Amino acid sequence: MSLERTLSYQFIQKTKLSFTTLGVREIYLESAPPYKSYPQVEKIELKLRDIPEKGNFFQILSKRRSNRKYRKRPLSLEEISLLCFAAQGITAQAGFYLLRTAPSAGALYPVETYLAVNYSEEIPSGIYHLEVRSFVLEKLMEGNFGKILRDLALGQAFFEAASCVFIWSAVLRRTLSKYGERGLRYIFMDVAHICQNVLLAAEALHLKACPVGAFLDEEINEFLGLDGKEETVIYMATIGK
Ligand SMILES: Cc1cc2nc3c(=O)[nH]c(=O)nc-3n(C[C@H](O)[C@H](O)[C@H](O)COP(=O)(O)O)c2cc1C
Repeated sequence: MSLERTLSYQFIQKTKLSFTTLGVREIYLESAPPYKSYPQVEKIELKLRDIPEKGNFFQILSKRRSNRKYRKRPLSLEEISLLCFAAQGITAQAGFYLLRTAPSAGALYPVETYLAVNYSEEIPSGIYHLEVRSFVLEKLMEGNFGKILRDLALGQAFFEAASCVFIWSAVLRRTLSKYGERGLRYIFMDVAHICQNVLLAAEALHLKACPVGAFLDEEINEFLGLDGKEETVIYMATIGK
């Protein structure tokens, strides 16, 4: 098969910006609400006292490594809060937009964060959604789902011993309604910024972390109650001690 026949090649070619295609809209889509929340469910307030001094940034960069050896150790509320802050903490307001720790194309923030807490002293084990505006975790399910997530991540055994697992989904319309098909590039760039923030925050907190792209998309969508169309899982990261 030639490279030219692959979907990936065609996608890259068809979504290149040039002077001739600039301003040409190939699709028209309604947008989606900019925030997601689960108003009826139990909430856990995340706590950020002071942003801690945690070492030299360039040391943190040079030490970051994907690490898959964890020991089922609990995370504190503060550690979980700082990881969530690194992912999608709000740091400024610009008119309508709530700007965050990670950049986002057009400040459209298409990524939603879910957190599987497996081991924590202060947060009951369960599956949570991060509500970014009020910086709370919204409880979707209670229990330790390490084994289930291991199976959904193609049997990658380290999921079971991870203290928590970040799961990121994309609400496609938020970005595609402005940028058309090229928006998909931006969605994946957005989530990579978020994930790298979390990986570096984990390193700063002396935790271990690993980004994960190998998982059964539809099964995870179903597990989280996502429809896989409007919103679909795109990336994960395990965190442990
Ligand atoms: C997009 C992406 C997907 C990845 N998926 C997995 C994965 O499913 N399982 C895994 O163990 N590591 C995964 N990794 C981690 C890579 O194996 C790791 O980053 C690479 O070996 C380089 O090592 P380092 O992160 O320690 O520098 C992924 C990394 C990226 C960036």
